[in-house]
Amino acid sequence: MLVTTLLRKKRDGGTLQQDEIEYLIDAYCRGDVTEYQMSAFAMAVAIRGMDPVETATLTRAMLGSGKLLQRPDRGDPLKAERPRVDKHSTGGLGDKVSLILAPLLAVCDLDVPMISGRGLGSTGGTLDKLESIAGFQTQFEADQLDRILADCGAFIASATEHIAPADQKLYALRDVTGTVESVPLITASILSKKLAANLDALVMDVKVGHAGFMKTPERALELAKSLVRVGGEAGLPTTAWLTDMDQPLGEAVGNAIEVNESVEVLQGASGAVRDLTIELCADLLVRTKVANDLESARSILAQRLDSGLAMERFERMVVAQGGKLTGTLPLAATHPILAPQQGYLSHFDCAAIGDAVVCLGGGRRKVGDRIDHQVGIRVHGRIGDFFEKSQPVMTLHCSATQAEQYSKLLADSFSLSSQSVEPRPLVLERLGIPDPE
Ligand code: URA
Repeated sequence: MLVTTLLRKKRDGGTLQQDEIEYLIDAYCRGDVTEYQMSAFAMAVAIRGMDPVETATLTRAMLGSGKLLQRPDRGDPLKAERPRVDKHSTGGLGDKVSLILAPLLAVCDLDVPMISGRGLGSTGGTLDKLESIAGFQTQFEADQLDRILADCGAFIASATEHIAPADQKLYALRDVTGTVESVPLITASILSKKLAANLDALVMDVKVGHAGFMKTPERALELAKSLVRVGGEAGLPTTAWLTDMDQPLGEAVGNAIEVNESVEVLQGASGAVRDLTIELCADLLVRTKVANDLESARSILAQRLDSGLAMERFERMVVAQGGKLTGTLPLAATHPILAPQQGYLSHFDCAAIGDAVVCLGGGRRKVGDRIDHQVGIRVHGRIGDFFEKSQPVMTLHCSATQAEQYSKLLADSFSLSSQSVEPRPLVLERLGIPDPE
């Protein structure tokens, strides 16, 4: 098979056959298809798209480039039967749900082998956030991951080299060739890794809005449908939630600051982060039959948070991954951004907030950049909240020089309206297996 023939076919809008896609992925992993040929393929798919059959085939081929995580029978008949579940978010500003969700589900008799990523660009990565905790490790061999899962019911770690290696290569390429925002490529990338984790159920949090990479409800819906369809066809029952990403999720944006907010939620704090975490977890509890209906699922989850059980499990997982939590993580010095006049919060420029965190050193401009875990931003309200003149709307954690440099940009990153503003709904839509209620 000639790779240039396949590239021309996709370039001209043709449909690739199963053997063609399998050949391409296989040859790419062997090194017989070059990075520049694969870049051309990614761009052709980003422009021309793929039909659902091609997308499913690409997903399976990328899954097949690696191995499945094993599900060892632990000898303990009670533990051996724990369903395996996971949540994946398409990424958003201040999205720290994974840090809370994994230990919370683990104390609800589910196993959560969470393979997570690093941040590149303005949305942070779960692994970077967790590395704010001294000693926390994210790279393990498969047998070590098995042991952590057996002990804690959850881990949050990076993909081993055996988990969908084709995706690891292709994702790095997409990042630098402007081909991330493609529904078939995102579908295959996410699901190849989730299928490799050998799960019983998956919930996808598809972010809609300016702080995510699906900016409009139409694009987010297209991605959600693709994930639900391809996941289901590959034997992984998948639901997708469309959730608001036109404002930060919760108050904290950064690394250590997001761990601190996650700990607050694990200790019972209320707000958008807790609400969304409970909704996504409740979906999984009902689908795995741990709870009979959403109402009872929500009350089990609230109890596990309020009793401190989920927090204890988080601490256990942190220790199992080499870290130690000794109270609130230290942050850089504080610099408030005040409301220039009184009014209702009506708009956030999420891109500006995300970019500011990157510029402060809290994110990466390019692969390999070092992260400053102590910088970040606390946003003190959500859209619709009222602020008095001179009340802090945000607090920056950074050096005095950085505060001088970025205060103006951040003061321009929100608007206050004299008219009252409706709060935005957190959840816009749920797709997939029929609503359990
Ligand atoms: N997250 C992934 O894992 N892959 C993508 O392509 C996009 C987001």
